[in-house]
Amino acid sequence: MSTQTEIRKWTLPELAQAKRDGRRLVMLTAYDYGFARVADANGVDLVLIGDSLGMVVQGRASTLPVSVADIVYHTGVVARGLARAMLVSDLPFQSDATPERALEASVALLQAGAEMVKLEGAGHKLEVIRFLAERDIPVCAHLGLTPQSVLKLGGYKVQGRDEAAAARLRADALAVAEAGASLLVLECVPSAVATAITQALPIPTIGIGAGPGCDGQVLVLHDLLGIDMGHRRPKFVKDFLADGGSIAGAVRAYAGAVRDGSFPDAAHSY
Ligand code: KIV
Repeated sequence: MSTQTEIRKWTLPELAQAKRDGRRLVMLTAYDYGFARVADANGVDLVLIGDSLGMVVQGRASTLPVSVADIVYHTGVVARGLARAMLVSDLPFQSDATPERALEASVALLQAGAEMVKLEGAGHKLEVIRFLAERDIPVCAHLGLTPQSVLKLGGYKVQGRDEAAAARLRADALAVAEAGASLLVLECVPSAVATAITQALPIPTIGIGAGPGCDGQVLVLHDLLGIDMGHRRPKFVKDFLADGGSIAGAVRAYAGAVRDGSFPDAAHSY
């Protein structure tokens, strides 16, 4: 008889069940094998290979220069470090411009080890989400502040602040879920708006700068570890290493704070 606890991978139906059960989901970015292992062993449910790697790994000014090949490479090395967490990989800038391009990039990501792809926006992306979902490719949508639109947005700003913008965001959120997305990241959105969207949606929402009312939270690994990236830290960022005592302790503290609802608090929300 084995005395070992069985380690099982998260599945898509379990994510949906977590929302129904009111179990908060913990997501964290990782970009290499070692940090993937730390995340996996310390309470992280979903690991994201974000195109934030352009900024925190490659030292670029934005996420726009990141290529599919970059994300495929990091997906492969992170996948080897995960026994339990689900692996979500970003579709980088314009790799999802058409359904066909998105399918080609998604196949490369899934073949490298991703279990879901993430893409930014609604509008013409609804067709892309539907096209991928109909072909059994799990999709995480991303609304609110969408960093790939930084040139159009004119900077990294909180979205959905006025009533009309909040209503558009809510309509987009319902539309991405209807198109077949399994998960929705909401970035830099007032707490009240994100909470209302979360309550209206059948799929889990994962907030970053979107308040405590989401079904889960995501942070960029370097932000959680308090690494200075040479620019002003957004309000939602918290250095968990300061109190965590070690990298593993910081990840555990983050996961615990998301699960017990103490992060994000009002000081880390809009
Ligand atoms: O690229 C990334 O890391 C992301 C998260 C900030 C959600 O999209």
